[in-house]
Amino acid sequence: MIVAYTAEEGSPDAERLQLLARLVDTLEGSSRPVAGGRQAPGARGGRGDRRGGCRDGPGWSGKILAAAGVSRGARASASGGTSPLMLQTAQDVRTIGFLGAGNIGSTLARLFLATGRDVVLSNSRGPHTLQDLVAELGPGARAATAVEAATAGDIVVVTVPLKAYRQVPAAPLAGKAVIDTNNYYPDRDGRIDALERESATTSELLQAHLPDAFVVKAFNNIYFRHLADQGLPAGGPGRRALPIAGDDAAAKAVVADLLDGIGFDVVDAGPLAEGWRFQRDTPAYIVRADAADLTARLARAKRYRDMTPDDIALHATEVRAAFAG
Ligand SMILES: NC(=O)c1ccc[n+]([C@@H]2O[C@H](COP(=O)([O-])OP(=O)(O)OC[C@H]3O[C@@H](n4cnc5c(N)ncnc54)[C@H](OP(=O)(O)O)[C@@H]3O)[C@@H](O)[C@H]2O)c1
Repeated sequence: MIVAYTAEEGSPDAERLQLLARLVDTLEGSSRPVAGGRQAPGARGGRGDRRGGCRDGPGWSGKILAAAGVSRGARASASGGTSPLMLQTAQDVRTIGFLGAGNIGSTLARLFLATGRDVVLSNSRGPHTLQDLVAELGPGARAATAVEAATAGDIVVVTVPLKAYRQVPAAPLAGKAVIDTNNYYPDRDGRIDALERESATTSELLQAHLPDAFVVKAFNNIYFRHLADQGLPAGGPGRRALPIAGDDAAAKAVVADLLDGIGFDVVDAGPLAEGWRFQRDTPAYIVRADAADLTARLARAKRYRDMTPDDIALHATEVRAAFAG
């Protein structure tokens, strides 16, 4: 299940996106895949064949776009970038690059390998330090430099401590969807003025650093062990939903498909500027929630400057329960 939290049909944002979508439709003509025209699993060969194909959800991207009132391919990015998005569907994602191979990076790599994709992992110390991890992950995983991982990925996950975001190589990410898992912890990352003032979100900082990429904020609100063990098949009761945010509808649709394929519903929280709604210490952070509950949690999120001691205490109680459960 995917819920579009913003850009309701008929809203000014949706109208702007529809205009862009019509323009893209005109430019792309018949070369653009039509809804339902996804390739059969494994049609492109490679590891998808060996493992029976990617197990993405049944065309969620079309639903998320329809819910937002837009067509696939509409770029509504505030990044000012000029590269078109390379991907059309999650089926096009054969290789996922990782900048960061720690708790979240290695957990996501394992989950995406299980969907039949290849992963290329990098860290700050060099590929030789990742040999044990790639051996443990098995066929389909390899270690590389950050530039190589960014180049190899059809889609790339940035999952480094936020303080390192400016070291992410920009050139190889032009035109690519980039998943940003980062959170801001001043004790770890140092004080970042724009985040202290709440005049920008963490993912907007990354987007500004990667003007030709299509940043989608995802996975930042889930503890890595929960990421590993809370995924469920689509359609069942109690499936956990994860929020995403991004300025490009098509990139979000691809990322939503990927999340669905590893066991999670998706709630679209809107553009990157709305990413604060699931940042650290908000009601959506760490706590397990289905789509309806998550939508309510996003709606009642407060900025840090507006949080009361009661808000913080309530969330701390919920986080303790999430770890205990
Ligand atoms: N842990 C969680 O449950 C969790 C949940 C949601 C979101 N997050 C957020 O996701 C991000 C990653 O968290 P994590 O727990 O996975 O961190 P982590 O375990 O400390 O791993 C960080 C990884 O980033 C690598 N790295 C650091 N600088 C780099 C650079 N310049 N280029 C490439 N790789 C670099 C590190 O490599 P080296 O080891 O070689 O330095 C390491 O592989 C953080 O922003 C965190 O706040 C974490």
